[in-house]
Amino acid sequence: MKLGIIGGGMMGEAILSGIIDSNFLKNDEIIVSEPIEKRREYLRDKYNVEVISDNKLIAKKAKYILIAVKPQNIKDVLKEISPNIDENKTIISIAAGVKISLIKRYLNKFKCIIRIMPNLPCTVKKGAIALTFDKYDKEEVEFVKNLFSTIGSVWIVDEKYFDTITALTGSGPAFVSTILQGFTLSGVKGGLSYDISKEMVLKLFEGVIEYIREKNLSFEEVVKMTSSPAGTTIMGLETLHKEGIVGIIMEAITSAKLRSEEISKYLEEGEA
Ligand SMILES: NC(=O)c1ccc[n+]([C@@H]2O[C@H](COP(=O)([O-])OP(=O)(O)OC[C@H]3O[C@@H](n4cnc5c(N)ncnc54)[C@H](OP(=O)(O)O)[C@@H]3O)[C@@H](O)[C@H]2O)c1
Repeated sequence: MKLGIIGGGMMGEAILSGIIDSNFLKNDEIIVSEPIEKRREYLRDKYNVEVISDNKLIAKKAKYILIAVKPQNIKDVLKEISPNIDENKTIISIAAGVKISLIKRYLNKFKCIIRIMPNLPCTVKKGAIALTFDKYDKEEVEFVKNLFSTIGSVWIVDEKYFDTITALTGSGPAFVSTILQGFTLSGVKGGLSYDISKEMVLKLFEGVIEYIREKNLSFEEVVKMTSSPAGTTIMGLETLHKEGIVGIIMEAITSAKLRSEEISKYLEEGEA
């Protein structure tokens, strides 16, 4: 068996769906473990893969073991599977805030430990995904990078940036949605229906991103191009700058990063 996924929740399913839809692995190369019977049935029916409740068996059978449980459950899972992990097996964790050093403490032997930070858009195969590892092993890192490329774009980065990435791309969907909400409500304030305003705003953001990418523009160039002298845009920009919009966003992401550091520390210390 090539891949074992421990935890068939939202993220476990997103990864499973990416692998199956892209034919990255065949159905019979994947095994999933999940505690809830109803959920097991659902995953079996939808993806035609083996779904069991025994994590130890997953660790025994699979070469790559992907842990997709909540961070507070990861220590129990590691304790449970560690007797079945040997020097040929690679552990992949997507648990937010759980450092490689913590995972290592529970395992006597392993080939490689790879830590991933996915985000919500992985569920629609548009994720911004960070990958880091304990030591570079070309075959293992390439395999895992290709695996996660089925649900988004993958960047290999040093683990020291993971708290920043957790704040930026992990919490990012909530920050971006809040900004989108602000735009949408402004449309409503101007008399548009909520639904029309929301669709227009989504198209606006999609369009701007495509435009910047296709024309290879800087953000400053777009600002300059839209700001005609004494026009409407420059008036709005003045308000955004007066209110310190850039600083507010940077502060929000810094707060989230600090919280990520705190949670990570708590997870480490709670261990002893
Ligand atoms: N969702 C995101 O956007 C996101 C982003 C970045 C990182 N992550 C990380 O992804 C991981 C999974 O998150 P999620 O949103 O997919 O959570 P989730 O939907 O709660 O999925 C976790 C799954 O694991 C199962 N589980 C719990 N304990 C288990 C055990 N001992 N053995 C096997 N399975 C077990 C849970 O079952 P029960 O329901 O019975 O507990 C659940 O089905 C987390 O570590 C999170 O930090 C998520």
